[in-house]
Amino acid sequence: MLDLKGRHFIDLSQYKRDELRHFLDKAIELKEMQKRGEPHELLKGKSLAMIFMKSSTRTRVSFEVGMTQLGGHALYLQPSGTQLGRGETIGDTAKVLSRYCDVIMARVFAHSEVTELAEHATVPVINGLSDLLHPCQIMADMLTIEEHKGKLEGLKITYVGDSNNVSNSIMQGCTIMGMDVTIGSPEGYTPADDILKKSTDLSKKYGTTLEVVTEPYEAVKNADVIYTDTFFSMGQEREKSKEEALMPFQINRTLVEKAKKDVIVMHCLPAHRDEELTSEVMDGPHSVVFDQAENRLHAQKGIMALLV
Ligand code: CP
Ligand code: NVA
Repeated sequence: MLDLKGRHFIDLSQYKRDELRHFLDKAIELKEMQKRGEPHELLKGKSLAMIFMKSSTRTRVSFEVGMTQLGGHALYLQPSGTQLGRGETIGDTAKVLSRYCDVIMARVFAHSEVTELAEHATVPVINGLSDLLHPCQIMADMLTIEEHKGKLEGLKITYVGDSNNVSNSIMQGCTIMGMDVTIGSPEGYTPADDILKKSTDLSKKYGTTLEVVTEPYEAVKNADVIYTDTFFSMGQEREKSKEEALMPFQINRTLVEKAKKDVIVMHCLPAHRDEELTSEVMDGPHSVVFDQAENRLHAQKGIMALLV
């Protein structure tokens, strides 16, 4: 039996396939219990500190509700309402929160802020999104893909659009779980060299493929899954030139028709309807975006139940 207690959950590349599998299996088990109405208070009396340096709907609500369903309690903390906003260091905050809470989740700007938290915390730290990675999202996504396709291994996932925290975590998590990953992005918006290299090493280790393609129709050819995200992530200014470069990568009916007939369409949400994804496709038969949103709850319950 794998013991994941006490580990941080910051970067999917820190986990091996059997460990990610263990989280997914726990999520499936807890989801089934939840659907059957069976109590599963595995974290009774435990507290989760949630630090949000950026806005959130899904991450906040799914972590808070998830902790309630596990019998514990969650605290919503923002810089403006805590001493973080008045200059108390991340390290000191981590040490203090560790004295009260059993697990910390943080949504931050710079990835170094979440690694610094983990360095000083004596309880597990979960990355609820940084500018570099969004690991919890991809756990929920893999759960969703498996529910719709019955497996992960051997499937082709194509992420189209801006290379960002979500696509970076796809390059790691989906590769580790045996999926072939294609990133379809225009020149100038392809993955950064270091994360691409790290992910390419992972794909070699796990015997999968990872490619970057700058032509959208070519990128989605034979895809089982097409995925996109906003052109402008939180903290980024809107730029006309970026929008123009990314518009050909919009997921619309024509792009969907270039993939496999039974392709599923994914988006981590929030979506900017008719920008990166048309409403027609988002509300259409290929879309699984709201299943993904629901699975944030189940995936994160699995993560917390095994780490705490
Ligand atoms: N997908 C996601 O993380 O959504 P929120 O920003 O609403 O948390
Ligand atoms: N890439 C997006 C994801 C939002 C959930 C962002 O960072 O804003």
